[in-house]
Amino acid sequence: MPRQRLNRRTLLQLGPVTLVSFLSATCSRSLNNTTRQTAQATPACGDDLMTPSQTAGPFYTPDSPERQSLLEPGFSGTAMVLAGQVLSSQCVPIAGALVDCWHTDDQGNYDNSGYRFRGHQFTDADGRYQIETIVPGIYPGRTRHFHIKVQAPNQPVLTTQLYFPEEPANQRDFLFNPVLLMAVDNSNDLKQATFNFVLETA
Ligand SMILES: [Fe+2]
Repeated sequence: MPRQRLNRRTLLQLGPVTLVSFLSATCSRSLNNTTRQTAQATPACGDDLMTPSQTAGPFYTPDSPERQSLLEPGFSGTAMVLAGQVLSSQCVPIAGALVDCWHTDDQGNYDNSGYRFRGHQFTDADGRYQIETIVPGIYPGRTRHFHIKVQAPNQPVLTTQLYFPEEPANQRDFLFNPVLLMAVDNSNDLKQATFNFVLETA
C-alpha cells in the first residue's frame, strides 16, 4: 500500500476501526523494526552523548492529555510515528519516564486554546515511548520540529526539540542542533522516526 496522506476524506473512507487497524499494523511493524535496529546498533548514550536541552518556546501548554496517539478525528496531514527509548547516561532504560510532546498542525499553527497535537505518556518497562502523530508544518523563522519534555521519575525535566533530516530550513534555523536529528525511515507505508533520549540522572 502506498504511503497515505491522511485527510478528512481518507479518514472518512477508512473509518475509525480501519484507521486503528492501519496504525496498529504499521506501528507494530515500526516497533519491531525499531527493536531490531536498537538491538544491532551501538547504544547511543554516555556522558558525552546526553540529549541537549533547548528552549520550550512560547507555545507550551501544561497538563496535556495522557495518550500515545495525538491523532484526532478531522485532522489533516501526513501520519507518522515517533518512537524510541529514554535512557540514562549509563545506557540503562528508564521506566515510567514522562514524555510530553507538542507541535504544530500541518499548516504550522499551534493550538493554544486546546490540546490538538499535544499529549504526554510514560515509558514502559523497557524505557520505550511511542507517539502517533503527523508531520508538523513549518512556521516563519523555524525549521520543522517537535517540542518535547522528558523527565525520569523524581528527576529534573529536560526540555528539548527534535528535528527532521534533509530539511532545507535546518541550516537557517537559529536553534537547529544536528545532535537532535531523528532517524527517519520513509521506506514503509507509515513514516517512522526514531530518537533515544539520554538523561543525566542522579
Ligand atoms: Fe515550535
